[in-house]
Amino acid sequence: MNSEIRVVGLCGSLRKASHNMAALRAAGQAMPTGMTLQIESIAGLPIYNADDQAAGWPEGVQRLVQAIRGADAVLIASPEYNFTIPGGLKNALDWISRVPRQPFAQKPVALLGASAGRLGTSRMQYDLRKCLQFLDAFVLNKPEVFIGAAAECFDSAGTLTHEGTRALLAEQMLALRAWVLRTQPVAQAA
Ligand SMILES: Cc1cc2nc3c(=O)[nH]c(=O)nc-3n(C[C@H](O)[C@H](O)[C@H](O)COP(=O)(O)O)c2cc1C
Repeated sequence: MNSEIRVVGLCGSLRKASHNMAALRAAGQAMPTGMTLQIESIAGLPIYNADDQAAGWPEGVQRLVQAIRGADAVLIASPEYNFTIPGGLKNALDWISRVPRQPFAQKPVALLGASAGRLGTSRMQYDLRKCLQFLDAFVLNKPEVFIGAAAECFDSAGTLTHEGTRALLAEQMLALRAWVLRTQPVAQAA
């Protein structure tokens, strides 16, 4: 690993004014020196179909796989849809899950989410942890970042205005950095 820690960010919402994309950007700004965030889009992937897979990996899947393989960690920010993982994000994970030499295996991953509801995507995040367990990812346990009542935490330009959330994101990014450094020997031995 370089001395720099490169993090790939994925957002489970495709909405232009997404609070989760805003939270992802805020997490990038809260990263300590030496840690960088590159956001990759999950937009435009076809719905997973094994017949399409047999015909060749879609370009968007290849791009995501390459980005994840080249990163030291992945940061996923996502809303909760109907108490669980939004279909677009689950579809992206389903595609990535079929790739040989699983890109998420032994990859440090941190989760965060913003929702309209007060529980701040907690139900979605526990389902997402389950998927990532199947992919053998190293998901950071704490701190959990559940941003409830998201409209009250961001202004209309998508800037995070809630100081407690900013502090929590900074704490999570420090924990992610420590997690990357701690799991690095295991990932390299795999
Ligand atoms: C299809 C759909 C399902 C939703 N289900 C939930 C839900 O289960 N829990 C919740 O707190 N909010 C739910 N919401 C509201 C989202 O939390 C809210 O729209 C949020 O701002 C979406 O994230 P974004 O701003 O990043 O797009 C749902 C929204 C949509 C469009």
